[in-house]
Amino acid sequence: SRPAILVARYVLPELLDRLSQHFEVESNQADQLLSPSELIARLQGKRGAFITANEKIDAALLDACPDLRAVCTMAVGYNNIDLAACTARGIAVSNTPDVLTESTADFGFALMMAAARRVTESERFLRAGQWTHWTYGLMNGVDVHGATLGIFGMGRIGQAIARRGALGFGMKVIYHNRSRLSPDIEAPLGARWVDKDTLLREADHLVLVVPYSPAVHHAIGAAELARMKPTATLTNIARGGVVDDAALVDALRAQRIAAAALDVFEGEPKLHPGLLGLPNTVLTPHIASATGATRKAMADLAADNLIAILTGGTPPTVLNPEVLQR
Ligand code: GLV
Ligand code: GLV
Repeated sequence: SRPAILVARYVLPELLDRLSQHFEVESNQADQLLSPSELIARLQGKRGAFITANEKIDAALLDACPDLRAVCTMAVGYNNIDLAACTARGIAVSNTPDVLTESTADFGFALMMAAARRVTESERFLRAGQWTHWTYGLMNGVDVHGATLGIFGMGRIGQAIARRGALGFGMKVIYHNRSRLSPDIEAPLGARWVDKDTLLREADHLVLVVPYSPAVHHAIGAAELARMKPTATLTNIARGGVVDDAALVDALRAQRIAAAALDVFEGEPKLHPGLLGLPNTVLTPHIASATGATRKAMADLAADNLIAILTGGTPPTVLNPEVLQR
């Protein structure tokens, strides 16, 4: 009989139809957020899990769901999945790199510009009826063109943001990454690898795109914020937890940096209450990859992986291919 799978969240009906050609599909088209125990209950007897960045796949869940052979997330980040625990149990895991790179870079750039040029702050001001007349200093921001763009985490998305900055806005690009990029990637962007301290001190606009791991927990905290320019902006499209949000609130309040734009938060969907009260924050609900076309491409790629893993094919973006060679 056909393997059973759970599609843990809403997907387009056409995709459910496609999955139903291969699997017995249980779906959650109502798109309720499943609690850990509901997720375990729904995964009983399932060989595959189609999930998002919201569903946590840890060792306790895996022990309670011994039939699982595939965990396919429609996200590039997979810090919600215990990859080592999956690998140890012979469970293949996939994510969705590449298909979201350009949309996510567009949004990261938009957030950075919104922080620098006070776009959302200005709009709140106007909507609140506070606009009475032109003044010299009204909503003066900091320039983006020609400024120094600092990128923390120079993966595919970081490079796509660097391209926008260097080629479109004449920005000087510096970056910090565990490994240095090859000269053929650096040269066309004029990108320069720097240590973290230099990145913090020289960036006019610092954008965080580093994949989350415990090693980068609170990589931007009070000490790091203190090294940044008072005119600098900080944009986080990586993950909550890369920034110490409490320290960020203090820094923004004291105007130790000019502004922050955040798409991800520690403990989201809750956020540090101090962020909401500050004028110099741009706050969005984890939507950097959210365009119709890109969400469809992510879901399709997650499905391609799931089908390939459970039917003996070659999954395009599996994270632990060693599991399939056993
Ligand atoms: C979203 O945050 C993703 O990792 O794709
Ligand atoms: C992921 O880490 C990416 O930058 O694509």
